[in-house]
Amino acid sequence: MNGVGDPRPDHWKGYGPFQQVKHELIDAYLKAWFPKLGLWSGKVVYFDTHAGRGSYAGDNPGSPLVALRTLLDHTARDQLLENSEFRFVFLELDEQNASELRGEVERIEDLPRRIVVDVEPGDAFEVLRRGVDALKSAGQQMAPAFFFVDPYGFSLPGDLLAEIMEFERVELFVNVMWRELDMAMHQELKAGHGQAENLDRLFGGDAWRNIRGETMVERADQGAKLLADRVGAKWWTHVRMVSGGDAVRFFLLHLTNHDDGRDLMKECVWTVCPGGSMSVRRSENPNQFLLIEEKPDLAPLRQWLVARLQAGPVLRDVLKEELRSKIWRWKHLGDVEAELKQQKRLRRRGGSLSLLPKQEALFH
Ligand SMILES: C[S@@+](CC[C@H](N)C(=O)[O-])C[C@H]1O[C@@H](n2cnc3c(N)ncnc32)[C@H](O)[C@@H]1O
Repeated sequence: MNGVGDPRPDHWKGYGPFQQVKHELIDAYLKAWFPKLGLWSGKVVYFDTHAGRGSYAGDNPGSPLVALRTLLDHTARDQLLENSEFRFVFLELDEQNASELRGEVERIEDLPRRIVVDVEPGDAFEVLRRGVDALKSAGQQMAPAFFFVDPYGFSLPGDLLAEIMEFERVELFVNVMWRELDMAMHQELKAGHGQAENLDRLFGGDAWRNIRGETMVERADQGAKLLADRVGAKWWTHVRMVSGGDAVRFFLLHLTNHDDGRDLMKECVWTVCPGGSMSVRRSENPNQFLLIEEKPDLAPLRQWLVARLQAGPVLRDVLKEELRSKIWRWKHLGDVEAELKQQKRLRRRGGSLSLLPKQEALFH
């Protein structure tokens, strides 16, 4: 692309809710992730593999600057920089974009010495492949790293992502262009359009042929799970970007092997999807930025808790572990617990919750 230029120059001309959500999630996650690692590890790296130009129309910062700003404006910034060096690696194939991004970075005044920024021109996956091979052949670990992978298309090297995930303290946040991917799979299954090799490479085999949901949302959810398996991540969390009906344009997929990474991303997702739909919808009304349900429906969580306690008391710590794989937050469990207590249906003793037998409830 170096000689050809950015194939989608219009990408930078508009800044909509989907871009905003992408950037809000990065900011919210890094705000908590930087101190988690930065207070002890000595080095922390943020990789933006498809970094772009650094800014959108209307002076809206792109992901590299959002990540940098999160650290620069962090309340614990000085303490973090005392304990760790923070390296920001911005990879960008298009020379013009890379040079604009470099200009944006240079305009930041008084960048602290312990914040190191590299804008690397070139193909992200080639650069990463060389880096991963070098670390592996030297038998070295990677410094704790957050990778934001945000290509235009859906061509992703699943094998490389899986190798990156094998390092100890790595988080992946991938923008999966579901609309294109879904269409490619559909066409391939119908008539064989020469995409099979690409799809096999992404999914690490032909299991994608079994993605057969009725709706695009169902298929996207199956795709997210398949990608998580392919990359070998213990946890996956995704937010769907939905436009017009149930058409999933893309989803943002967070992959981690750490329980606290899963908990943190769940918290972040609830801030952008307060209704619990795990989807961001583009509003049909231009005056309304995002259409979101404000209040989550906790009925399914209530049913789950009551069913879970049916056989006897359960430690709250155990419930907390079990809740991790569900979309619900720990705070929601507290809300449901309070409601059931008020209805005299539940008792908390020590660290355990149990259901109250009907007669006993009369005396509480
Ligand atoms: C969706 S845009 C990135 C937006 C940016 N992450 C943000 O949120 O501000 C995709 C970028 O990837 C670049 N790109 C495309 N192929 C690439 C590759 N193989 N390696 C690195 N960058 C690439 C494009 O030039 C474009 O700037």
